[in-house]
Amino acid sequence: MFEILKRHEMADGTVVMNEISAPKIAAKARPGQFVILKANETGERIPLTMADTDPKKGTITVIYQVVGKSTALFRGMQVGEKYQDVIGPLGQPTHLEKLGKVACVGGGTGIAVLHPITRALKEIGNYVYAVIGARTKDLLILEDKMKAASHELEVCTDDGTYGHHGFVTDVLRDLLERENIKLVVGIGPVPMMKFLCKLTAEYGVKTLVSLNPIMVDGTGMCGCCRVTVGGKTRFACVDGPEFDGHAVDFDELAKRLDAYKEEERMAYEKFMKERQAG
Ligand SMILES: Cc1cc2nc3c(=O)[nH]c(=O)nc-3n(C[C@H](O)[C@H](O)[C@H](O)COP(=O)(O)OP(=O)(O)OC[C@H]3O[C@@H](n4cnc5c(N)ncnc54)[C@H](O)[C@@H]3O)c2cc1C
Ligand code: FES
Repeated sequence: MFEILKRHEMADGTVVMNEISAPKIAAKARPGQFVILKANETGERIPLTMADTDPKKGTITVIYQVVGKSTALFRGMQVGEKYQDVIGPLGQPTHLEKLGKVACVGGGTGIAVLHPITRALKEIGNYVYAVIGARTKDLLILEDKMKAASHELEVCTDDGTYGHHGFVTDVLRDLLERENIKLVVGIGPVPMMKFLCKLTAEYGVKTLVSLNPIMVDGTGMCGCCRVTVGGKTRFACVDGPEFDGHAVDFDELAKRLDAYKEEERMAYEKFMKERQAG
């Protein structure tokens, strides 16, 4: 169980895709849901969204950015190796509705989270504009998949090495001016989601975001993933991870994500030293 069947590195090796055998999860999972993975007995519990599922093959696909100790440990896992635990599907599935024209906007690894939602919105009959962005061309992921999942795709890079030179929000502003967009789904780094929501609020367009607070149990028991939405405390693992972007307190989320920065840095450095030592 939980064997890695396919492995692929993207974005200069900073992002890794794993297709994992998990038949029970693949049979139940819906767009927007996530799993919690543990590499081994002493491993940390890491939440990752399912970028794809194949109920017939009994597989789920996760795409993760290597940012710290546990994702660096995952990166070392090869085809044929097994995750000790994969728990899920967790979280609420995306509320999918036929609304007309919708925009799906993704940044960085947020594109992996956005992909199944984009595809599902198209499948139920919406006209889907997709906008994806990365800092530079080499870090862009899933362009082909997002092209297939949408009707029109625009690509942006911060440094202008590919597609539109600038932020996804520039392209989104043009779309909001030009088209009667009924819903925006925006997934990416916290600052991107914050500014995207400011923009869509100006146009009064409903906006969904997927939040990534630090999680531990993923079942609503530990309180670790609490976020403030509309002035109320919500647990992203059971109430989310998707929320109305106009109601989210992004500044608080950013602060909570930074809370263990120093400990995370030390754990990563220790892990890399131990790995180099053999
Ligand atoms: C519901 C959900 C879905 C996610 N989906 C994806 C995904 O599809 N692809 C992807 O690349 N990342 C995703 N993440 C973020 C991913 O879980 C973290 O990057 C990972 O836990 C970092 O672990 P680490 O030990 O490598 O890094 P650490 O050194 O522990 O942390 C590096 C940074 O990652 C963040 N982080 C650390 N631990 C967690 C945690 N338990 N939960 C959330 N963020 C954390 C912090 O901002 C921290 O600064 C998701 C997070 C959540 C909550
Ligand atoms: S992760 Fe523990 S309550 Fe959500």
